[in-house]
Amino acid sequence: MGVGQDITLYREQERRLRQAQTMESVGQLTGGIAHDFNNILTVISANLELAVLGVDNAEEVPAIKELLSDATSAATDGAYLTSQLLSFASLQSFKLDSFNLQTLVSGIIRKASATFPSGIKCSVSIESDDITVMVDRVRLESSILNLLTNASAAIEKRGRISVLCQTKQFRKSEEAADHGVPVGEYIVISVSDDGCGISESLLDQIKDPFFTTKGVGEGTGLGLSMVDSFATKLGGGLRIQSTVGLGTIATILIPLVRSQAGTPVEKTNAQQRTSVPREAKTVLVVEDEARIRKITVRYLVAGGFRCIEAGGAAQALEILAAEAEGIDILFSDIRMPGDMTGRDLAAEVARLYPRIKTGLTTGYDQATRSPEMTGTDADTANIPVLRKPYSRKDLIELLAELGRSEPA
Ligand SMILES: Nc1ncnc2c1ncn2[C@@H]1O[C@H](COP(=O)(O)OP(=O)(O)OP(=O)(O)O)[C@@H](O)[C@H]1O
Ligand SMILES: [Mg+2]
Repeated sequence: MGVGQDITLYREQERRLRQAQTMESVGQLTGGIAHDFNNILTVISANLELAVLGVDNAEEVPAIKELLSDATSAATDGAYLTSQLLSFASLQSFKLDSFNLQTLVSGIIRKASATFPSGIKCSVSIESDDITVMVDRVRLESSILNLLTNASAAIEKRGRISVLCQTKQFRKSEEAADHGVPVGEYIVISVSDDGCGISESLLDQIKDPFFTTKGVGEGTGLGLSMVDSFATKLGGGLRIQSTVGLGTIATILIPLVRSQAGTPVEKTNAQQRTSVPREAKTVLVVEDEARIRKITVRYLVAGGFRCIEAGGAAQALEILAAEAEGIDILFSDIRMPGDMTGRDLAAEVARLYPRIKTGLTTGYDQATRSPEMTGTDADTANIPVLRKPYSRKDLIELLAELGRSEPA
């Protein structure tokens, strides 16, 4: 009896400990992603700010285009991070795609250097061949961004940051051990700065989660721990060499996975797809968040659709009651204030106006098969759901598909 109780108690303690550990890792992970997300937002806002500054000058148009496209691609990275946060399970896996190493590294440095104070000069040297590698682009870019942010913070007013990107083959185990990695071929990216440096007594701690020497609100101490865990999980590592007063060299090593020769770099599906001519269809766009509605309508109009807007399900039904004949497609957000969700609206529209095709959208994760995503009743279970944030291409493709499909 006594033994039985002991075991129960022990199991309960073990369960609590495990739960606490899980919570801690969820906390670290969430904090880490929030941290990277902030970096991404900084890139977006700095690039947008610069674009706004140049907007009155016609000569600046090519530069503005580049700033805007950098902001857009940073936003895409942000969307990828939130999708990871939402589908916790997918965190174990890396999203590998083929990229040209040179384009990738120089791209992130260009985006990031827009955020540096003007006294900081940044140079890049890429010594690898023009190779295509398989890599988790967003995580590699976040890692480089973290190192660049640290380097910039270490520089008081004026200074220099240099980035060196190479591929290296460690054939001998001593050589590999020197870098703290197994024998093999690696992408080696080092970020050097001539900032304050790190004292020897702190070098052991700087990769620990939440270790920071920065003031409250200035740093979370998660940057290096994110970089280290990413590189280490892949079988590489993060090495920091530093001398107080002289500067720091932070080096990421990632095992090199070459992509098959001839693989297209940064494949764009849009280029492969030939556009299908279509007569203009009218879409009823139902979305309570005005800025998202505005963007959606802009995308659709640019894609050759006509649009009518509604701020909620009730307004959408009023519009339909008045002019349902003129509307071909309903595109609605799922979660909206009010009694009716987008799914309820879709069911009602299917009942009242079976000719109208419906697409739904939500910011919640598709991987978690919640009733909201899958639908509970047979009426709305087959309606396609577009996850937010969606790209113009995904939106147009979905609605073009709906516009082509035969009425039920
Ligand atoms: N290049 C560098 N030069 C000098 N010190 C550095 C450098 N990189 C990191 N450090 C030191 O390591 C600590 C931990 O870095 P880490 O990136 O993990 O967090 P952080 O930069 O403090 O916070 P956050 O990344 O959230 O902004 C920093 O607070 C700083 O003291
Ligand atoms: Mg940092």
